[in-house]
Amino acid sequence: MQTKLVKIRDIAAAPDALTEAAAILRDGGLVAFPTETVYGLGANGLDAAACAAIYAAKGRPPDNPLILHAADWEMVRTIARTVPPLAEKIMAAFCPGPVTLILPKKPVVPDAVTGGLDTVGVRLPDNDIARAMIRAAGVPIAAPSANLSGRPSPTTATAVLADMAGKIPLILDGGPCPVGVESTIVDATGDQAVILRPGAITREMLAEVCGPVALDPALADKDAVPRAPGMKYTHYAPKAPLTLIAGPPTRLAVAFRREIRRLESAGETVGLVVSRELATALADLVPTSRVAVYGRQGDLPDIAAHLYEALRHFDHQPATALLGEATATDGLGLAVMNRLGKASGGRMIKA
Ligand code: TXA
Ligand code: MG
Repeated sequence: MQTKLVKIRDIAAAPDALTEAAAILRDGGLVAFPTETVYGLGANGLDAAACAAIYAAKGRPPDNPLILHAADWEMVRTIARTVPPLAEKIMAAFCPGPVTLILPKKPVVPDAVTGGLDTVGVRLPDNDIARAMIRAAGVPIAAPSANLSGRPSPTTATAVLADMAGKIPLILDGGPCPVGVESTIVDATGDQAVILRPGAITREMLAEVCGPVALDPALADKDAVPRAPGMKYTHYAPKAPLTLIAGPPTRLAVAFRREIRRLESAGETVGLVVSRELATALADLVPTSRVAVYGRQGDLPDIAAHLYEALRHFDHQPATALLGEATATDGLGLAVMNRLGKASGGRMIKA
């Protein structure tokens, strides 16, 4: 299959691409599209066979449910049996935006979406191309991140193409995704909101609209079973093993130097996933080709936006051992460190 990539700078100027995407989706096919978080791999969310094609294209484990993307509230009501008051509050405050609510599902939502659960993840993406495409298709769109299973999520159309070329007919290129990490998943069906996957709608932001917010215990304890089934898999993994180094900025450069020298004398070719500041401090030790800069030190929105591209840097760069710079863990840092933690399989050195 030929994969066509269509650049869209302005949706008003791209009616043909949206018509084509809608026709493919209504026919049971797959279309990759931009959202504010990461690129999605979309299918008609009410068509079980179309959803099965998503699992095949990604090599996704069958027990990992999909989330449904809606264009508006009206569409949410067609797939959710009810919207509990807490969920309603969160949606009123943050939707459209980078948050997914777990809601009781209506029978029209096939088991192919939910993996047999009686709930469904629902999201209203804050991206004009995504919303125009969903509207044109006229159905909710099931969409996981548009990467091969286990790989970093794609935040550019080029990254989608790297994983999906030959497997899907169409990629809508809306430029780089501004948020860069997947949506916050919240279960607000009970008395207290619970974060199942941290994202750009932070625990602190949620607490302002709905009081104390719990974290799924599996976010802290790697032996607990996560309630978002997808969170149990090693994700976002670059090809060489990654070890994180955590500590105050003043001590990081020394700790990195020591670790780089140790690895090199053991015969390893070292690559770095670090801030611009640390990259500058280590420029004499590691050639720039083996340094992936993820953003400015301490600037979490910048780091989130470029994290996955930095992890993908080593797809084509020879490196046998990667060292990564840990960030703070509050606010958006919870999401960044959750993804870095999975990419590193929990390997961490304290500076
Ligand atoms: O930002 C995002 O959410 C992106 C863009 C494309 O919208 N999508 C995304 O989808 O990250 P995916 O499939 O990569 O991650 C969805 C996560 C998985 O961890 C899955 O297990 C969880 O949502 N999930 C889906 N339905 C669920 C449910 N009913 N209960 C608990 N977790 C659920
Ligand atoms: Mg994913």
